[in-house]
Amino acid sequence: MNIKQVEGKYFMHTYRRSNLVIKKTKNQFIWDEKGKKYLDFFSGISVCNIGHCNEAVIKAVKTQLGSFAHVSNLYYAPVQIKLGEELAKRSFPQARIFLSNSGAEANECAIKLARKFGFLNPSKSGKRYEIICFNDSFHGRSMATASATGQQRFHEYLKPLQEKFVFAEVNNIDSVKELVNDRTVAVMIEPIQGEGGIIPAEKTFLRELREFCDDKNLLLILDEIQCGIGRTGKFYAFESYDIRPDIVTIAKSLANGLPLGATIAGKKCAEIFVYGDHGSTFGGNPVSCAAALAVLKILNAKFLNNSVKTAKYLRGKLEGLKKNYSIIKEVRGIGLMLGVELTVNAQKVVDYCLDKGLVINCTHNTVIRILPALIITKKDIDNAIKILDEALKWQTKILKNG
Ligand SMILES: Cc1ncc(COP(=O)(O)O)c(C=O)c1O
Repeated sequence: MNIKQVEGKYFMHTYRRSNLVIKKTKNQFIWDEKGKKYLDFFSGISVCNIGHCNEAVIKAVKTQLGSFAHVSNLYYAPVQIKLGEELAKRSFPQARIFLSNSGAEANECAIKLARKFGFLNPSKSGKRYEIICFNDSFHGRSMATASATGQQRFHEYLKPLQEKFVFAEVNNIDSVKELVNDRTVAVMIEPIQGEGGIIPAEKTFLRELREFCDDKNLLLILDEIQCGIGRTGKFYAFESYDIRPDIVTIAKSLANGLPLGATIAGKKCAEIFVYGDHGSTFGGNPVSCAAALAVLKILNAKFLNNSVKTAKYLRGKLEGLKKNYSIIKEVRGIGLMLGVELTVNAQKVVDYCLDKGLVINCTHNTVIRILPALIITKKDIDNAIKILDEALKWQTKILKNG
């Protein structure tokens, strides 16, 4: 049996995998089992933001692994405490951290924190527990985070869902105001929806949302699992919006490929968990924390500014393609989190590009999702655009010929 057949026989069929069988990676490149080289403009869904097999990360991981991999959160692991300190300093004043293993777990923690906040800060009608989320959002695959996800396709077989998540429209403050009641405790939003098709929240909207949450004593939870950690050119996407959340969640690229999630709470709710309220055996694993510390060291202002320049160049090239192809409806996103919406399903274009050595992704049916490592060069962009151009030409020709 080949690898595809073995997977088909022994694994639950939860992923639609492409035919790429990976042998090795380095920086912004992937090699398949036959030695073919690919330019990776997807970074494992915004995970390897500083590139694959980063030397500093490898060194940090090896050193920690040689020292200890796990001791339980009932003891102090210096590397974990150091990471908490670094993250808190990068976040907001009086920030407190809970470390987990994944995005869904980071959001679960945020939801539990909000529920406790509503328990401790009731309205006249009693404790508050309802969370306003958004249509087309994605917050994870656990029961609570799937219930908080605003996409029907993730709900169908799960029903009954976890209760008390309601859904407003991104960039429509009135739709939020209509949903609020005396049970509402929080608003949870991705500053840029990823799985929803790269939909950035507008600046005015996020600012209005911040004001509205302050006014009603609601927690503003930002899910930066896909858009955070340098992807937009700032460490957090919310820095581009000049607002500050009450809770921010991150995961994916925090440890550049090792499992790690973090829930970071500000002063309104930072102190409300007490012993026993929440926990995780593996959360904040020392090896992942060592990797994350190496990541944070690399993500300095110079590195981020450089990625902004790269992003501008890529954006310009994509806008250039839009002028040439009527099947491109819109180019959108912030920094190196970019979406190219087509008038047709984007999967065939993505498959064509993979065949020619460019890894990109299709999300929300019609959107080409581009999430390259932040270290890509202009030459990489030129090479990627050449392939994408060819793919769009091919797709246009097929559509013309019916
Ligand atoms: C915005 C957002 N939130 C949460 C998650 C869930 O993260 P994980 O798959 O690590 O549980 C994802 C994953 O794609 C995401 O993009």
